[in-house]
Amino acid sequence: MAKISVFRYDPELDSAGYFDEFDVPYRSGMTVLEALLHILEHEDGSLGFRYACRSAVCGSCAMHINGRYRLACATQVSDLGDRVVVRPLYHLPVIRDLVVDMTGFFQKYERIRPWLLNETPLGDEERRQSPEERARLDNLVECILCACCHASCPFTHTDPEYLGPALLLKLDRFYADSRDLATADRIAAADDEHGVWRCHTAYNCVEVCPKDLNPTASIARLKGAAIKRRFTGRAE
Ligand code: SF4
Ligand code: SF4
Ligand code: FES
Repeated sequence: MAKISVFRYDPELDSAGYFDEFDVPYRSGMTVLEALLHILEHEDGSLGFRYACRSAVCGSCAMHINGRYRLACATQVSDLGDRVVVRPLYHLPVIRDLVVDMTGFFQKYERIRPWLLNETPLGDEERRQSPEERARLDNLVECILCACCHASCPFTHTDPEYLGPALLLKLDRFYADSRDLATADRIAAADDEHGVWRCHTAYNCVEVCPKDLNPTASIARLKGAAIKRRFTGRAE
């Protein structure tokens, strides 16, 4: 049996959160997501949590598991010791149990305009990139917007308007794209009171990212571009 302790909170019924304990029949290779699905199907059909792909691709099963932000579908119960403790992501309002409200996160995501900004008429052509230009997007396009890094960052809590590591990495992804022509706008979005200067380089985001990405490096790159623009007036 695996002992699973799960955070519970229903704002319509509970004045505060609490933990429920479950004994789940263990089988080799079981993930935390599978343990939660067992609880849902056999113990308590009211348990709230999100998942979709079960393959570490959609980012929806991000949770705080045994002291660390992780994807439940990519975390083996056998790697967690005698007891598994599951909580929702921090720094996002809890809707119910393990389900957090991502509305504010995705509103800020829209603010960075996460699409190519390029008014050049296309005609019948494609917007081509050289292999070198495409290689600049490696370790940027892989972000699955799971918000593990957002939850781990102390400054997404103190400034709810702070873009945070995930969205600054996304901003860097478009800043780095040779097909995007809004370089000055991208830098201005980073060089904002709720942008890169809120980051104090604590590296929590790098430590937790399940895709091994490096939001802190993106923030450093955008800080460099912002300083250059302030001193030289050039956006590059
Ligand atoms: S490095 Fe910056 S963005 Fe990442 S967790 Fe630390 S303060 Fe937040
Ligand atoms: S940078 Fe990593 S931790 Fe942050 S949202 Fe993207 S995949 Fe998740
Ligand atoms: S269910 Fe999609 S990342 Fe876990």
